[in-house]
Amino acid sequence: MHIDAATKLYGIIGKPVGHSLSPAMHNAAFQHKGINAVYLAFETGSPEKAVEAVRTIGIKGLSVTVPHKESIMPFLDEIDKTAKRIGAVNTVRNSNGVLSGTNTDWIGAVKALKAVIDLENTEVTVLGAGGSARAVIFGLLKEKAKVHIANRTKEKAGRLAEEFGCSFSGLDDLSGINGAILVNTTSVGMGELRGISPVPKQLLKQFSVVMDIVYGKEKTRLLQDAEEFGCIIVEGIEMLLHQAAAQFEFWTGKKAPFDAMRKALIQAQVK
Ligand code: ATR
Repeated sequence: MHIDAATKLYGIIGKPVGHSLSPAMHNAAFQHKGINAVYLAFETGSPEKAVEAVRTIGIKGLSVTVPHKESIMPFLDEIDKTAKRIGAVNTVRNSNGVLSGTNTDWIGAVKALKAVIDLENTEVTVLGAGGSARAVIFGLLKEKAKVHIANRTKEKAGRLAEEFGCSFSGLDDLSGINGAILVNTTSVGMGELRGISPVPKQLLKQFSVVMDIVYGKEKTRLLQDAEEFGCIIVEGIEMLLHQAAAQFEFWTGKKAPFDAMRKALIQAQVK
């Protein structure tokens, strides 16, 4: 890697970011395209100060992750319609001092699913009603899928269903659910909830495709169960990869070197 006075800086902000796979993907992309830039991970509790740093030292772009995707919004100069509708920014571009926010999470979800199944008129059950669910549901509806939202707190599912025009239920009331695709956007399977599935195994029988946005070195319990029933599974790293490719394109205006990014992601994941 060549670093000199003209090298541009990009990075990810969040807390924690110590295990982020984004630096591996984006540095591979810059190298592959011969772009004189580096991408680092910045752990910070203050999106406001991070934005100030971007302006002060001319950082060219940011990925934004948990817990700053919503709280960063007031500090940016412009936010596109999509990010406003989702209510979260996961990508910032600095164009000559003007900071623009967008959201590529929905693109990640849609592309990861479309690689294995058509979405138009397809029935999809989304588990969860938090920030990640909003991005996934936005993408699914844009692709004309029919969405059912199931969440532990049923009222939250109800509010989201009303906003986006979907059906809804509690997570404990899935008996009548059928559809082709199931997507988990809850945090079940992650951190302290590792090894746990958000739904009973038998429920998975009826789905053709099961996607989990939770990812890690091993497949989540949900995806292991789904595989046992012969469902096509889509791992969380697929969404991660596709949203990162869209970030690269937003920053550089160039087509993302998808295969190089995938290779770097897989290598970083097994480390
Ligand atoms: P994110 O931005 O990652 O979506 P979030 O907005 O905090 O995070 O949303 C977390 C989601 O995981 C919510 O749908 C939450 O359900 P509630 O709305 O009932 O809180 C869901 N979730 C978290 N822990 C859960 C658990 N143990 N069982 C079921 N759902 C859970």
